[in-house]
Amino acid sequence: MATTVSDESIDQLQYQVTQSLGAFQCQREETDRVAALKAAQRLVNALQKPQDSVYHLAYSPTHAMCVRIALDMDIFATLTERNGPVSLDDLAAVKKASPILVERVLRVLVGIDYVGECDTRVYIATTMTRQLTDRLSISVIKFIFDVGMPTLAKVPEFLRLQDHRNPEGATAGPLQFAEKIDEPIWTWLRQNPENLDSCNTFMEGDRGARPSWLEWFPVEERLLCGANPDAETLMVDVAGGRGHDLAGFLARYPDAPGRLVLEDLPYVLEESTVDVQRIEKQSFDLFKPQPIHGARIYYMKFILHDWSDEENHVILTQLAGAMKQGYSKLIIEEFVLADRDGAMLPAMWDWEMMIFCNSMERSKSHWTRLLEGAGFHVIKFWAPPGDGQGIIEAELK
Ligand SMILES: C[S@@+](CC[C@H](N)C(=O)[O-])C[C@H]1O[C@@H](n2cnc3c(N)ncnc32)[C@H](O)[C@@H]1O
Repeated sequence: MATTVSDESIDQLQYQVTQSLGAFQCQREETDRVAALKAAQRLVNALQKPQDSVYHLAYSPTHAMCVRIALDMDIFATLTERNGPVSLDDLAAVKKASPILVERVLRVLVGIDYVGECDTRVYIATTMTRQLTDRLSISVIKFIFDVGMPTLAKVPEFLRLQDHRNPEGATAGPLQFAEKIDEPIWTWLRQNPENLDSCNTFMEGDRGARPSWLEWFPVEERLLCGANPDAETLMVDVAGGRGHDLAGFLARYPDAPGRLVLEDLPYVLEESTVDVQRIEKQSFDLFKPQPIHGARIYYMKFILHDWSDEENHVILTQLAGAMKQGYSKLIIEEFVLADRDGAMLPAMWDWEMMIFCNSMERSKSHWTRLLEGAGFHVIKFWAPPGDGQGIIEAELK
């Protein structure tokens, strides 16, 4: 029976796994871990028979679907709380569900190691069971499944109707096509408080386990050292959601002088629970003039990837008008797509951006073009450890 590659290739792949695992075990570097994971994934793929691989791919949405159902059934929370074996009947009783339905869900969850099976119809928590009790991880599943999946199913049809031209623009994308709306996601979300909450909670955890930029970017050397202690504002988090990134900055640099300002849409700021003694809230519109002038740092995380080049030109121009030449820094935290041999996470994120915002992730040359065109000069692209988002440091030309 043929597999996707020959036995010789399997030997080679096994060798690559051993090599990259060895490097990771020696150095414990994030980059080596990601390389080992990639090599292991290629070995797994190679062991799959091609015809069966197609089934596994086509049926893979059932994984996320069963996880989503299990959240409704409190399966992860129950197994984590009981911290020991739990029978099928006990799990079903939590939500008075049919045991046979719960068993059907559990079969898939056991298959992907999100639940352990310790006897016939007896289950136990795994690392992933416990992870799915974390509110940030729960929001990833809820937001991507509940809000994104109906649109995802419509993307191929949407693209056929566009003659496969890359679509752009916040009001003319797959979301608008699938949901029959003509507004951007940000105002539409407001109509459904549960979805708005899962979106904003998703944003809080959108680095996953990847380290915050504050852990690897030389903040003191590049930003704090040159900050004028008499200047009014140290940092503006431009469309910072509920303020988690600014709160992280404050926790790390509690004594850095200057105002910290959180900007977002008014109904998002209302939900923010940041320390208002230290972090000021300022409602604003990305497409209108930036209200805070002359700050040392204008930080934007996952904002520009929400918009088209044309929309970003307006956003960046409005921001530029408030920045002080030779002093203000623009710090953009975004994925920077590799031109080849790219990581899978940003590649998938790129499609999620089309689903939600009809926008995209960008490569180094694309970022440079966009920023230079709006009056900025890129000082440096800072690569993150592993496969997370990087930092683009820019100034006014
Ligand atoms: C992808 S989220 C990123 C939030 C935050 N920077 C983070 O990384 O967690 C985009 C943010 O832009 C805000 N936003 C969308 N449209 C906006 C507009 N026209 N003016 C101001 N903020 C806007 C949203 O409310 C949301 O908080």
